Amino acid sequence: MSSSPNSFSRRKVILDCDVGIDDAVALALLVQSEKIQLLAVTTNTGNVSIEKTTRNALDVLSLLNAQSIPVAKGVARPAFTILLENYSKIHGLNGIGEVELPASEQLVDQRHAVEVFAELLEEEPAKSISIAVVGPLTNFAMFMKSYPDLVNKIDRLIVMGGTTSNGNITPVSEFNIWADPFSAKYVFDNVSCPTSMVGLDVTRLATVNEEELARWSRNSEWGSTIARMVRGYLDINSNGWPMHDALAVSILIDGSILACENARIRVHTDGDDNYARTYCDFETEAESSGPQISVALGVDLQKFNALLTELM
Ligand code: BDR
Ligand code: CA
Repeated sequence: MSSSPNSFSRRKVILDCDVGIDDAVALALLVQSEKIQLLAVTTNTGNVSIEKTTRNALDVLSLLNAQSIPVAKGVARPAFTILLENYSKIHGLNGIGEVELPASEQLVDQRHAVEVFAELLEEEPAKSISIAVVGPLTNFAMFMKSYPDLVNKIDRLIVMGGTTSNGNITPVSEFNIWADPFSAKYVFDNVSCPTSMVGLDVTRLATVNEEELARWSRNSEWGSTIARMVRGYLDINSNGWPMHDALAVSILIDGSILACENARIRVHTDGDDNYARTYCDFETEAESSGPQISVALGVDLQKFNALLTELM
């Protein structure tokens, strides 16, 4: 883990994730960046079961030599949806492209993910912690329900999920929202801290290719291991492998990477063709219509790639 002479000025972050290949890259960026102090990693069910996502979080942190960062498990299953284990086969059966990592000796934190959010927010001054959710919003919605008064202490909530255009699970829905649209709806209807939605509109553009992976492999042992995971990632388009979660967390390091516009987001939860769609209304500004969410619509790929080059 990189250390900064002035750790007090670093941005404090909690990452809620379902590791996951692009989640692993997001973890690496947060651990490596001198601008970030990663306070805790919390896990949820998503790409694979919570047992696997938690194991992967521990093992990836160990790979990054960052075993001191606590890892706490969250909600095992969404309350109103049936998320089948290994639904998202695109990350492989173990969630990290069938790469076998040495088992970390770090133990799982005994607290529930929701308690970790609450305790850290209670301990730290208001507006000093940001939370990035790069899996389904199940844990975060449960935190909002359990501790509504702590939500506005969050500096910024980043959500990787949703789309204003094409989906990746159905023609209109994105995986993280589709996995638990009820929690996503609760969050986007009620959240009281500044919130960004970083969806497929921008994340599918943030690809890495073989050239990039070869560079990671030359740079470090851990870079080489994460590159092997990416090669096992079945989410691939004509430009390469999209780093959805890594792009989402990158704005905590450099806010100018994404161009955003405010919208009211309505998540469709009826069981029809629009299930889990994120309708973004960019016109309605009245507060009474619900929270305004900053929706990422443009990406500075040069800046994102420069960040990957610096940190990976
Ligand atoms: C999202 O779904 C997961 O498979 C990825 O890790 C990312 O969080 C992209 O739709
Ligand atoms: Ca993810």
